[in-house]
Amino acid sequence: MSSAQAATSEPRRYQLFIDGKFVDAESGKTFQTPNPATGETLAEVAEADKADIDKAVAAARRAFEGKWAKVSARERGRMLYKLAQLIESNAKQLAELETADNGKPIRESLYIDVPATAENFEYFAGWATKIEGETIPVPGQFFNYTLREPVGVCGQIIPWNFPLLMAAWKLAPALAAGNTVVLKPAEQTPTTALELAKLIQEAGFPDGVVNVVPGYGETAGAALASHAGIDKIAFTGSTEVGKTIARAAADNLTKVSLELGGKAPNIVFADADIDQAVNGAMMGIFYNQGQVCCAGSRLFLDERVKDEFLDRFKAKAEKIKVGDPMDKQTLMGPQVSAEQLDRIKSYVTIAREEGATVLTGGGAPAALDEKFRRGYFFTPTIFSDVQNRMRVAQEEIFGPVTSVITFKDEDDLIRQANETIYGLSAGIWTRDVRRAHRFAREIKAGTVWINTFNMMNAASPFGGYKQSGYGREMGRHALEMYTQVKSVWVDLSGKPIGWYGQ
Ligand code: NAI
Ligand code: MG
Repeated sequence: MSSAQAATSEPRRYQLFIDGKFVDAESGKTFQTPNPATGETLAEVAEADKADIDKAVAAARRAFEGKWAKVSARERGRMLYKLAQLIESNAKQLAELETADNGKPIRESLYIDVPATAENFEYFAGWATKIEGETIPVPGQFFNYTLREPVGVCGQIIPWNFPLLMAAWKLAPALAAGNTVVLKPAEQTPTTALELAKLIQEAGFPDGVVNVVPGYGETAGAALASHAGIDKIAFTGSTEVGKTIARAAADNLTKVSLELGGKAPNIVFADADIDQAVNGAMMGIFYNQGQVCCAGSRLFLDERVKDEFLDRFKAKAEKIKVGDPMDKQTLMGPQVSAEQLDRIKSYVTIAREEGATVLTGGGAPAALDEKFRRGYFFTPTIFSDVQNRMRVAQEEIFGPVTSVITFKDEDDLIRQANETIYGLSAGIWTRDVRRAHRFAREIKAGTVWINTFNMMNAASPFGGYKQSGYGREMGRHALEMYTQVKSVWVDLSGKPIGWYGQ
């Protein structure tokens, strides 16, 4: 892949990656993935369906029981490390393709998505040789120990908001622990996972260890989630589809982990450093066009600082450069698809109907270059006068749209902040250390940010409380999801068992 190629308007072609080979779909079908900045076709991609999923699962099973089982932990670690290095040496091309397929600003793909992808593989490379069992001091003349073994063939279904990074969150711990994988990228953004497949092959993973099968959710995704041949299904996406997947998996009692939606409270107390908090509110809702599961989409403001805060926040939001995502100065690109753009627009109508005020944004940006007129752009948007029970405060909008809610005191705040079906993340801005740590305990969320927002690292666990899902990705906790424990008992006495020797 060359960067010149990424820039041409001639659509690229991609095949499925099954058993170490790039192949067409059994049906011969393909689908198109557009460039959301222009609406033009970026690539034509083979479309996996049930028959291809069957092939991929069979290949993953053969690899799991064959070649991959014989690869030492050290070798697995080395392959993951090599993959991290290959990602770094292809960073520019991967970032350009990610931006072309997803629409996120190039400064994000290049400085956040791609480095974090490499970092995840590097982090889990280190874990491969450190997955250990335990010895248990059981009573009597017995030796009892545990083996920590891979789960087996893992189905992994990922969304479009961080296409490469979500692939890394899923693949890295699975491979470190010795599993094999069938990965289904989102239909909106399948290309970088297929480029990653090439690098996986180059890093030396045996055929069938990783299979990449793009296709639609209702066909390829559903076939994977309900497949009797997989041992585990991992999913990131909407809460609605997460429930469908859990139901499909229940028939085979396939193990499930889910990372779902959020409606995070981002809270500003009157004693906060207001400049920092304004920046934090920007990061919370405008980063990645707001298409972030842990986005700070409910902005809670202490009544006493509301006006001052909103003046500054509005002014900054209006200065965000929306436009060509390939331009390094751009802070906001297009939304990922026409469907998402329509969804977001519908919430502007809903907000007005519910009695909220559209303080800024709420539509298409003015004065875009001719080339971007058909792109899926939306302006940074602030809804004020929102009540926590309104739909715009309860439903995941997944765009650059925040809902401002005010509060009187800490009790009022905690009650409102926890009044949601979600529990993925939360942020608080205050100089009071006691209050900050009290909040960290009282909020029902998997991640809490104090005087910061959207911070993540491969070493730190991430996942949801309540309907934001179950299981933790990244950090040592991710290994729990990709290993199972076997307890082994050995007799040391040679004596008859129980009464049966009498
Ligand atoms: P989605 O949940 O439908 O898609 C995510 C993945 O699931 C894709 O790979 C898709 O092909 C697959 N999928 C869809 N239906 C499936 C099924 N029945 N069986 C198996 N796999 C299936 O999300 P969508 O429609 O793209 O976006 C809708 C909303 O979901 C967004 O507006 C946002 O609120 C939420 N979302 C949350 C994400 C997160 O990171 N938690 C990521 C993407 C979307
Ligand atoms: Mg969908």
